[in-house]
Amino acid sequence: MKISTIILAAGQGTRMHSRRAKVLHTIASVPMLAHVIKATETLDIDQLIVVYGHNGAEVKAAIDDAAICWVHQQEQLGTGHAVQQAMSEIDDNSTVLVLYGDTPLIQGQTLQTLIDKAGDGLALLTTQLDNPEGYGRIIRNNAGAVQSIIEHKDANAEQLEIGEVNTGILAVAANRLRGWLGRLDNNNAQAEYYLTDIVALAVNDRVKVKPLICTDAEEVMGINNRKQQADAERVYQQREVEKQMMAGVTLLKPESVTINGQLSCGMDVVIGQSVIFNGRVSIGDNVTIGPFCVINDSIIGADVQIQSHSVIDNARVGADCCIGPFSRIRPDAELEEKVHVGNFVEIKKSSIASETKINHLSYIGDSVVGSGVNIGAGTITCNYDGANKYQTTIGDNVFVGSDTQLVAPVSIGDGATIAAGSTITKDVEADVLALSRVTQKSVKNWKRPVKK
Ligand code: UD1
Ligand code: CA
Repeated sequence: MKISTIILAAGQGTRMHSRRAKVLHTIASVPMLAHVIKATETLDIDQLIVVYGHNGAEVKAAIDDAAICWVHQQEQLGTGHAVQQAMSEIDDNSTVLVLYGDTPLIQGQTLQTLIDKAGDGLALLTTQLDNPEGYGRIIRNNAGAVQSIIEHKDANAEQLEIGEVNTGILAVAANRLRGWLGRLDNNNAQAEYYLTDIVALAVNDRVKVKPLICTDAEEVMGINNRKQQADAERVYQQREVEKQMMAGVTLLKPESVTINGQLSCGMDVVIGQSVIFNGRVSIGDNVTIGPFCVINDSIIGADVQIQSHSVIDNARVGADCCIGPFSRIRPDAELEEKVHVGNFVEIKKSSIASETKINHLSYIGDSVVGSGVNIGAGTITCNYDGANKYQTTIGDNVFVGSDTQLVAPVSIGDGATIAAGSTITKDVEADVLALSRVTQKSVKNWKRPVKK
């Protein structure tokens, strides 16, 4: 049987009080809609349709996926109306899986079970909530068979007591769905064409409605407001850190760590409090990351120590390096093994060869630095003349004294020594001492100025 998925993403999301479309609000820095699409990736689906509408151009631009068939819902007249817009794209001989773009934690496995259950009828994903506020309630008869769904705003006091709710997710034979959608009306509290009304129509047509109760209520959280978004974010992060811990990573304060993207860790990695990972981060064995570090799209070698408050962005850090505290390693920085980078050091678009030390208060940009180099405190590569960037090249075993400016383009030969406080504007040969400061002199009987 062909499987077509329809994701509803046209609604405004009034309760978010936002200019942005609701489905573009994020969980773990990724739009909710992208999470829902990702959940379908493990399924063998033939067609992926996204119904878009409110802020449509923005939604389409944010979700750049060639496999999606986009269907426009001109006016947002309800979830039933939204599904109806997509039906012209769908074969009668298929199973339709309906997903909501605001239910981002849903898992592929659950969807597969639901699809398998649908057969030539209607399978409905429900869950049990302690606080069912806002959700549609599942109405069952005395025999326990599902009869209908009543939206919160249409429910009477007795129905509001029901804890079993509609997740919005269902799988249904396309030909039957088509018939029921044609019979929907909008005689309800919100004057909308509710998709949920197909349940009563199915019962009426003696088509069995097969409920699948999702035992994990967090998986099917619908996000309508910022509070629910924050709750879903917490659930998501909790799951991510649990995966890491189960795979052998020590998290000293798991509830404070944020993993946005894909984090892969070697053995015996220790991660401190409030560390944030973004994008693809790969960490080798025996790495320790201190508190309050931010690591984006980077590769960290084995046995690296990263001390607190360091930021590593789009960089490569070789084995046995020591970074931080308070280091900033910026895009296109490549550190070979055993490099030391200390506090208030910024490195951008530079390669630093093994065993080089840049321990205090320095800026190294657009540079190629050899191995065994010592860069003294306060050294600056002056790489920018206000218009263009230039390169600094430093050979092996160079010693750069403190408070030195290297005005690029400039090149320092192997083994050279730069005296502290120098401003180097010309290339320095290998093995020489270069100094540019004025000779120290003493002025006798110097009188300091006095106030007039
Ligand atoms: C819906 C269900 C409710 C269920 C809850 C689960 C209906 C009528 N109600 O309520 O039973 O418990 O989800 O989270 O289905 N959308 C469109 N076009 C529209 C209207 C909505 O594409 O015209 C999209 C929205 O973008 C959203 C989804 O459909 O992604 C659900 O709409 P929303 O307004 O959030 O429905 P709920 O009130 O949460
Ligand atoms: Ca919703």
